[in-house]
Amino acid sequence: MMSQTLNVDQIRKDFPILSRRLHGNKALVYLDSTATAQKPVTVIRAMEDYYNQTNANIHRGVHTLAEEATAAYEGARERIAKFIGARHAREVIFTRNTTESINLVAYSWARKNLVSGDVVILTEMEHHSNLVPWQILADERGIRLEFIPVTEEGELDLLTYQNLLELRPKLVAFSQMSNVLGTINPAREIIEMAHRAGAVTLIDGAQSVPHLPVDVQQLGADFLAFSAHKMCGPTGIGVLYGRRDLLEAMPPFLGGGDMIKRVTLRSFSPNELPHKFEAGTPAIAEVIGFGAAVDYLIQMGMNNIAAHEHAITRYALDRLSEISGLKLIGPSAEKKGGVCAFTMEGIHPHDIAQLLDREGIAVRAGHHCAMPLHQRYGLPATTRASFYLYNTFDEVDLLAEALERAKELFG
Ligand SMILES: Cc1ncc(COP(=O)(O)O)c(C=O)c1O
Repeated sequence: MMSQTLNVDQIRKDFPILSRRLHGNKALVYLDSTATAQKPVTVIRAMEDYYNQTNANIHRGVHTLAEEATAAYEGARERIAKFIGARHAREVIFTRNTTESINLVAYSWARKNLVSGDVVILTEMEHHSNLVPWQILADERGIRLEFIPVTEEGELDLLTYQNLLELRPKLVAFSQMSNVLGTINPAREIIEMAHRAGAVTLIDGAQSVPHLPVDVQQLGADFLAFSAHKMCGPTGIGVLYGRRDLLEAMPPFLGGGDMIKRVTLRSFSPNELPHKFEAGTPAIAEVIGFGAAVDYLIQMGMNNIAAHEHAITRYALDRLSEISGLKLIGPSAEKKGGVCAFTMEGIHPHDIAQLLDREGIAVRAGHHCAMPLHQRYGLPATTRASFYLYNTFDEVDLLAEALERAKELFG
């Protein structure tokens, strides 16, 4: 079966790792992009070129290399800001990853704005990185956490959410796309409801920004967190988007060089946005690689990527549901992105992942950093196959055939 929207054969040539062979010349079938995505050669080359030609510290230098490095770093920020529809590049703060972006909001915005008894609404499908920072805050400040339940079909129960909003929460923080169920949550509706109740919102975009067109102005987003490594970029670099007025009013998160305007022995005045939140020498090469990743995704087209993943997921759900004893969790294909988590009767998820690995197929097994969600379904673990722009329908067939063989083996 051919993709209707992307030339996947051509795209695969952009990713050197996809031609790797494993375990006795088996072709790599990489179905773990939800954990981290593979990198196209343009991203690898952008970072290599930076180190070969430009390497210098940014912002402070006046020599040619420092000016070039600063221009490349700030240029990447501008392209990333445009990619998510931000009004100003200064609303894009570079962090290490989604986790650090959420922690930045919890430490800087929340510690300034929340007091004991204030309510924060989260959901039952959150990744630990959008749970634990709020649990730490709840313990420290007496913040009350409430959760939007997940229905049996894997969707958020918005009626209960409506009722929870009567508690007048200060913050609603939710994942736009679940890394286990694949559910694409109605972000705009959730945000509109939160705003009507007077709450600020934070979107965990770790899974949505790599896979769907995301526009912060269209969504009305206050904060959006995402990671480069899940969208064809390098590890060690992520973004916190924040509405300018919110960021302006927040105290710094980390103190040190670059985040100050003036320092005396006993005091400092913070720098302007975005530098106020970027203390110390940043991950310069990684930001440049991130810029190249965004260029690559724009070139492929986010609508095309989403449509391709949608088609492949529909096909995967059909193929996998033909396997007796295999149980999928999450909603139907129309409501989700390219993530299929499942269990198989009589086989532990780790054993499935190991058997698949022997055939060159990379999937993930475990709780996928969403233990409460697995508890909700009464499951200790699932196996998860996930798709990106470089995956093919043939790879879904290979997965399904390997799962049939695993079933036979375990009898
Ligand atoms: C929904 C979601 N949120 C947050 C994260 C954390 O991302 P990172 O490890 O890059 O900080 C992940 C990573 O899997 C995720 O899937």
